[in-house]
Amino acid sequence: MRVPAKVNLALGVGQLQENGYHAITTVFQAISLYDDITATPADDISVTVVGEGRGFGDVIGAGVLGGPSREVPEDWVPVDESNLAVRAARLLAQRTGVPFGVALHLAKGIPVAGGMAGGSADAAAALVACDVLWDTGLDRRDLTELARELGSDVPFALTGGTALGVGRGDVLTPVLARGTYHWVLALAARGLSTPSVYAEYDRIGKVGPSSPEGVIAALRAGDAVALGASLVNDLQPAALALRPDLRRVLDAGRELGAVGSVVSGSGPTVALLARDSAAATGIAAALSGLGVCRGVRRAHGPVPGARILEASA
Ligand code: C5P
Repeated sequence: MRVPAKVNLALGVGQLQENGYHAITTVFQAISLYDDITATPADDISVTVVGEGRGFGDVIGAGVLGGPSREVPEDWVPVDESNLAVRAARLLAQRTGVPFGVALHLAKGIPVAGGMAGGSADAAAALVACDVLWDTGLDRRDLTELARELGSDVPFALTGGTALGVGRGDVLTPVLARGTYHWVLALAARGLSTPSVYAEYDRIGKVGPSSPEGVIAALRAGDAVALGASLVNDLQPAALALRPDLRRVLDAGRELGAVGSVVSGSGPTVALLARDSAAATGIAAALSGLGVCRGVRRAHGPVPGARILEASA
């Protein structure tokens, strides 16, 4: 299975609701940074993790479920029951009553705790992979319902493309997006937890909800420059309050000729939009040399959601 990261092109944050979530209006785009998941039949449900962590190629939190527990930093991927892929497999097994297990293996290319829905991507991939492996007979609508239970961003990781999300961001409508958009992602040294950014948003006081109309019009026109000018994220002031150094990345993006720059979701990854592919290459190279972020990735979007790469995956 291969599953993409997302960026939020618009993120308008409304009221905190009784269920503990904020009502949001967001435009997601799935981009070409991926986690790859393999699912192998097993007696129990377990997970191993390698890949993107505190530096590219590091082994992060590698281990199997039930192994010796150890303290891991917040932005490392857990390999216990709290791992979202494990929770997805358990939920599917519970609801369908299948007596099977699965050994999940995550090769992470999506930054951890980066505001790019890496955990949600893993949950979506695990749902689809186990659904195929166990032949549960669920349809796409059933899977989407389970996805919503697992997290606000999980349904989008299933569908991919470009979509408007309302509610918690989990109620989706496709958005017409002409053309391909070229992104440069600036990765931060440490992750940020989504609840802490929303809490900071509440502490600072209401800034939203911003409207997604500008973003939707630019996407419909296929106009990267207009899209760059329309990017908006109501969580950005909160992310900047928690990580003031992100401002340097946003400034650097502008100076290097990005047509737009925005903190992705709850951050701390910063997404820079380039005019075209060649411009993205130039911005990525120049940004790498500035030393304002841990790492730089290039990606394009939109791309499809969770999909099977080969029959056994
Ligand atoms: O749904 P998910 O598990 O990704 O959300 C993590 C946390 O982020 C929630 O518990 C909540 O504190 C915050 N959140 C929110 N409003 C949203 C989405 C997430 O307040 N729309």
